[in-house]
Amino acid sequence: YDGPNPRWRAGKLGDMAAGSLMVVGAQWGDEGKGKIVDLLAGGFPAVVRYNGGHNAGHTVKFEDKHFALHLVPSGIINPRARCFMGAGMVIDPMALVTEIDGLAAGGVTIGDRLTLSPRATLILPTHCALDAAREGALGTKKIGTTGRGIGPAYQDQAQRRGLRTHLLADPKRFEERARKLMAQHNVELERVFDATPMDLDEAMERLLAAAERVAPMLGDPGPEIRALHNAGQPILFEGAQGVLLDITWGTYPFVTSSSCLPASAAASCGVGVGLLGPVLGIMKAYVTRVGGGPFPTEDHGEVGERLRKAGHEFGTTTGRPRRCGWFDAVAARYAVDAAGIDAIALMKLDVLDGMEELKIATSYTDPEGRTVTTLPAEAEDVERLTPVYETVPGWSASTVGATSEDALPPQALEYLDRLETLLGVPIVVVSTGPRREETMTRGQGPVADLLRSRLA
Ligand code: IMP
Repeated sequence: YDGPNPRWRAGKLGDMAAGSLMVVGAQWGDEGKGKIVDLLAGGFPAVVRYNGGHNAGHTVKFEDKHFALHLVPSGIINPRARCFMGAGMVIDPMALVTEIDGLAAGGVTIGDRLTLSPRATLILPTHCALDAAREGALGTKKIGTTGRGIGPAYQDQAQRRGLRTHLLADPKRFEERARKLMAQHNVELERVFDATPMDLDEAMERLLAAAERVAPMLGDPGPEIRALHNAGQPILFEGAQGVLLDITWGTYPFVTSSSCLPASAAASCGVGVGLLGPVLGIMKAYVTRVGGGPFPTEDHGEVGERLRKAGHEFGTTTGRPRRCGWFDAVAARYAVDAAGIDAIALMKLDVLDGMEELKIATSYTDPEGRTVTTLPAEAEDVERLTPVYETVPGWSASTVGATSEDALPPQALEYLDRLETLLGVPIVVVSTGPRREETMTRGQGPVADLLRSRLA
């Protein structure tokens, strides 16, 4: 036991967050969290992933090489950073090994810098088979999952029959329990979905080989995170997916199966919420979504096509084309409120270059003609909404690579100002291209100052 927080003993409760920062997606995922975390990670000695699994895809760059990280926190690219994977995650041990080997092949040495909670839930090969079978059975109503077994694994956790990562260090117990659970999955696959059951010997062989590799990484993130915090070291919390994909606050049931909201990071790591720091919400200057589910501002015509092309909107994890549309200030404001977002990083502003005018959804109308100013709890009711747009002037000049507000056309500055007014929080980072340097910080305030100090 490392005793009560020394800051508390010293009566410094007001200084709880010690420069830590929480980064969350504020739309339907794919907002560009990878770039922001990649940029910031160098300024943080510790980076934490707390939700989801290898459904996430964060692209980061290291010495001219691109890495698509799915499970490992993006901070791993920084050779000095400690990385943690919390208990709220779901872990496919084979996927983790593949990712670690890919990093090593690209020159990223992990050594003992990666700690995986023994309380995370394991994804077994049969979970992936169930994911596919359930999606198949839903037909046109399918969620459009990433097919990684995320939902079935979380379901087993909630059903209190899931396997936890600590078992990886105990092959005998692991095999016993994994065979038993996978046999139950096979029954469901055969009887409910008329699908081919899995070869359990083959699955077990792969699992045990991966277990041997992953077991040495097991360790409780909580004590280490607390110790870092007590030593005044800032911690970066890297959210996966986004608020609108959150199991509770997203467009249920078209959501992922974990909580993407900031507070879940504390629960995932077993630390107090006071350690989390302010919340930086990541949004694109427009909106995208992969998979099924409501998307009020989706554009099926020219605008959507143009955004997809200019923004290279194809999934990092599955390669699927993303659905695209105008910025939805109602959904964004809802995300700001639900996640307690303090400031925003607005990504891909440059993708809007050359558009004569831009639209921003500022409210919706329902089929009865009533004005709606927030996201209803029922996905079907969201489907029925029609966005009410405000039209603002676009700009013809290029913003690609702009690193200061001086380099932005006045209409782009107006667009930023309008979004800030509609969302009620400052936009402190603007991204104008995929490269690290194609980024600007702007404005004043605690989050802007914190970002500048970490980016320095
Ligand atoms: P699952 O997380 O694989 O169960 O997928 C559920 C829904 O979340 C689907 O619509 C996916 O496309 C979406 N999703 C899951 N992870 C991500 C992500 O990292 N980015 C964007 N969408 C995601």
